[in-house]
Amino acid sequence: MTPAPIAVALDAPDLETAARWASLVTPHVSTVKVGLELYLRYGPDVIATIRGASGVRVFLDLKLHDIPNTVAGAARAVARLRPAILTVHAAGGPAMIRAAVEAVPQTQIAAVTVLTSLSAADLATIGIQGPPEDAVRRMAAQAVAAGAPALVCSPQEVAAVRAEVGPDITLITPGVRPAGSDAQDQARVATPERAIADGADLLVIGRPITASPDPGATAAAIAAALRRVGAPGRGPGAAGSGRR
Ligand code: C5P
Repeated sequence: MTPAPIAVALDAPDLETAARWASLVTPHVSTVKVGLELYLRYGPDVIATIRGASGVRVFLDLKLHDIPNTVAGAARAVARLRPAILTVHAAGGPAMIRAAVEAVPQTQIAAVTVLTSLSAADLATIGIQGPPEDAVRRMAAQAVAAGAPALVCSPQEVAAVRAEVGPDITLITPGVRPAGSDAQDQARVATPERAIADGADLLVIGRPITASPDPGATAAAIAAALRRVGAPGRGPGAAGSGRR
């Protein structure tokens, strides 16, 4: 069966746990996501350990944000690990995004728009006025104009972003919660089915899978639910998903 368009966030306290989760979910999902905590604790070797023999796509969520030359160098430094996706902050600006995209042609650069943890009031304190959705749309359009083939946004903004950037850009949404599960610290959530219906290509799901008693069975159940609503059954490709 084709793996579902889900990236399981392996936010584990140790490498053994992350590797165990990865082996349990990889039969059912297209992608696993390694974040800053795991990468900074264990270094580049974490990628080979997580990937194992499965060949699962690895999403390296380092959210790079620096001057263009530094981000390009950092992206090149991790490109040898062959991540399918690497994140940079859209707030780094068009030159930085372009530098990352040009530095690693084999890796899909995903620009993170507004962090889902930031409210309108938080944005105002850093000088960004108005509803978060407006800032997300502005940053999305700017990142795409700078060459980003993929964007990260909240599922609550994904329909607006899809309308803004068109069909060929890969949209990745964290903040996904199956119906009835706890939102935890995520403020702006939607169900997997809703996020896909609104135009998401790849759903980032962490604790609803990894903190469940049986991560493999939970991943399989969410994958089955997505198949029922006609999800594409694959992750994004190297240059946009071509989903429409
Ligand atoms: O456990 P949960 O499903 O909330 O995990 C969501 C994952 O997505 C975490 O790894 C988090 O770092 C990441 N993420 C997010 N919001 C963003 C970008 C990434 O929650 N804007």
